[in-house]
Amino acid sequence: MTDAVIEEIDGRMIRVGDHWLADFASCNYLGFDLEPEIAAVVPEYLARWGTHPSWSRLLGSPVLYEQIEERLAELLGCEDTLVLPTITLIHLSVIPVLAAGGAIFVDHRAHKTIYEGCQFASLRGATVKRFAFEDPDDLERLLRRDRSASRLICMDGVNSMTGNAPDLTAFAELARRYEAILYVDDAHGFGVIGERHVDELSPYGSRGNSIVRHFGETYERVVLVAGLSKSYSSLAAFIACPSDLKRLLKTAAPPYLYSGPSPVASLATVLAGLDLNAARGDTVRAGLWEKTNRVLRTLERLGIHTPNHSGFPIIEIPLARSEEIGAVGRFLFENGVYATLAAYPLVPRNEVGFRIQVTAANTNAQIEQLIEVLAKLGNAFDLQTAHKPEIATEAEAAA
Ligand SMILES: Cc1ncc(COP(=O)(O)O)c(C=O)c1O
Repeated sequence: MTDAVIEEIDGRMIRVGDHWLADFASCNYLGFDLEPEIAAVVPEYLARWGTHPSWSRLLGSPVLYEQIEERLAELLGCEDTLVLPTITLIHLSVIPVLAAGGAIFVDHRAHKTIYEGCQFASLRGATVKRFAFEDPDDLERLLRRDRSASRLICMDGVNSMTGNAPDLTAFAELARRYEAILYVDDAHGFGVIGERHVDELSPYGSRGNSIVRHFGETYERVVLVAGLSKSYSSLAAFIACPSDLKRLLKTAAPPYLYSGPSPVASLATVLAGLDLNAARGDTVRAGLWEKTNRVLRTLERLGIHTPNHSGFPIIEIPLARSEEIGAVGRFLFENGVYATLAAYPLVPRNEVGFRIQVTAANTNAQIEQLIEVLAKLGNAFDLQTAHKPEIATEAEAAA
């Protein structure tokens, strides 16, 4: 199930060779990739703008960028945003600017693309120190000793493997106390989790406006990065930052000056996705939470361990015996379930397993199929046994 060629899709079913599989490896969490209302706007934008604005952003940005940046700033409740094609390009170009040759404190398990940004920064004189995974005490130990002129803390928001979020409040507090900048990559949380309200439709919160708002935090000394290529199914990404930093990045971040931009179709689907999010995003998220919760409840009933204790739609299932990963992959494939395999050395041996991602476009029948296959898998293979999960029950969530 790696490097598969997908020849056809039908909703959230995919065809690999002559095998039809239910796709649980998609990051299109809100199902916007299959939303007819969103697809319908594309031809009109192509007619107006052509297929591709081939200027780099510095040379010429279609006004669509201004519209997206303003709407993202309003959604996130931040001062300003800057859109670039991908998060990878943002990490590579923005981390070295923010590090300014000082110290970078990077979460031990931060996404690989953050590490690459740190490597670039170290070529420009920054010192990179690692702190233990989502551990504010370990970070503080390092910060206390540090005498650098500038400090940057880099970490993920919702983790792409565990499906959990770090204690953002604790990290933001450390950043403020030690005059550092907290740089958070919430590729997976943006669009799914958001600000909390008493009358919210699901424990994900409202509006999908990402981890800073989900924790009721402010952007003081916090720089948020996220992508539109997961929940918004479009090739673009952004950095939420003060306007001064945005102005600086327009000359200091090479992708703004030199890289090819996002295609017009993606700019169009972002704008239509923002409309749909405003109109009924919370209802979509409530459905997503319900489907995810059914899978998590099943794992709990079967006594199968997952690190997910948040209820977010990323569910990793580690194996008890890492050498069975190939056989487990074949079992899932033969039983019509497409998941992401996490093999050694991509993950430590005790975390070898597979990851399920639930999207709003997975049908109830596909969820039933997944539940059945997980039960069969639990009988056929040794999976790690459950620790106490802390996910909310439907009754708790409704309360
Ligand atoms: C946490 C995280 N950061 C960054 C990326 C890369 O994003 P992009 O494709 O926008 O470069 C991913 C991709 O899956 C991711 O999971």
